[in-house]
Amino acid sequence: MTRPLLTRIDHVGIAVRDLETSLARYLRDFDIEVLGRERNEEQGVEEVMLRVAEAPGGASCIQLLEPLRPDSPVGTFLQRRGEGLHHVAYGVVDVAEALRGLAANGARLVDTTPRHGFGGSAIAFVHPSSVGGVLTELVQAATS
Ligand code: CO
Repeated sequence: MTRPLLTRIDHVGIAVRDLETSLARYLRDFDIEVLGRERNEEQGVEEVMLRVAEAPGGASCIQLLEPLRPDSPVGTFLQRRGEGLHHVAYGVVDVAEALRGLAANGARLVDTTPRHGFGGSAIAFVHPSSVGGVLTELVQAATS
């Protein structure tokens, strides 16, 4: 059975109501670098990636997520749970292969095929019910 190789904690995703306010707080309180900001219409979020450290295979980050619409996944999360930790993302070498391995093990997948993530990465989500209650994202870094 193939098991995905986790290469690092790629980022922790944090749901926020107001990106500007949260970003200003992180910049004020932590010595942290803004890697970039993107609007992801498919996922219904505006996001900022903040670099915490370099790890093998890529940076280790904080991802601030503001919903574009109340009925988006992060919008729904905010209404139910308020601001806070939304998901944890791990680096993998090959996200499609990782999904096949997890599916073969019976894991419940949110995404059966990879989709577009920050900075040209390929990402996929695994349902919290298969990962101890934690919405889990797999990230394959963009090849430059
Ligand atoms: Co994420």
